[in-house]
Amino acid sequence: MLKLKLNLKKLILVKNKYINFDYFISTELNGIKKKVNNSIISNIDLNKAVKDLNNQGFYLVEKVFDENLINQFEKEFDYVIEKYNSTFDETSISNSSQVRIFNQKNMIKDKLYACSALFGNLEIKNIIKSHFKKKFIFNSDIFFQRSGPTKKPLASEYHFDILNSIKVWLYVDDCYEDNGPLEVVKDSFKQNKEIREVSYKNLNKISNVSNIQEHQNTLKLTAPKGSIIIFNTDLLHRATEIKSNFIRKVIRGHSFSEKALEYNYELQRNYTHH
Ligand SMILES: [Fe+2]
Repeated sequence: MLKLKLNLKKLILVKNKYINFDYFISTELNGIKKKVNNSIISNIDLNKAVKDLNNQGFYLVEKVFDENLINQFEKEFDYVIEKYNSTFDETSISNSSQVRIFNQKNMIKDKLYACSALFGNLEIKNIIKSHFKKKFIFNSDIFFQRSGPTKKPLASEYHFDILNSIKVWLYVDDCYEDNGPLEVVKDSFKQNKEIREVSYKNLNKISNVSNIQEHQNTLKLTAPKGSIIIFNTDLLHRATEIKSNFIRKVIRGHSFSEKALEYNYELQRNYTHH
């Protein structure tokens, strides 16, 4: 009996070390989570999202979150940018700070309750699942990016991503023409998918930068704060100029297919061996 008690104590200690109890008992977390999930259920139309993603490579929905919630997202955003070191050199021409968070547990520890609810949301997971069909890693990387005025933002050339993913973007601030919205080339994703899949199969390196010029069938995804974009990175896309006195605040979650990660692994292995 004594042995059992001791073991139980040990088990609880181990649990305390690994489980963040906020996740189960924080009323603040639960309240925010409920609001985020309700906003998503009310404003994101699952069928339309799946259809748009499949037919045009992206889904944009305006004002998913109300003023109150978007203030919460902004508070969490500012906290992260303030607390963690940027992975970019902030003095560079891109004028950006970016922080990368790898898992949900860290977000709970930092009380990023709204972000944790958004990037753990099951409706969004189902939309992404409809695209990949096979195994994928749901929002494995989450980025907080604050960009100031720049003519040369990061990724300013049209490209598709070598490692295919579905990205979920939240505009934390209004993102109109002057704030450097994401720009896409309509109908470009099917062709790029083919190029990518052949390269995945043959383990070739992929050249993914396009020579498409501006204004050829392009669309700037402008939207007010609280809007969400879900897009397939096979679509040619780029970041656009942020005009002086403007900034852009975006939080993004990236979900990769296992296929993309396998390709990345194999390619790196091949190139380090030779
Ligand atoms: Fe990209």
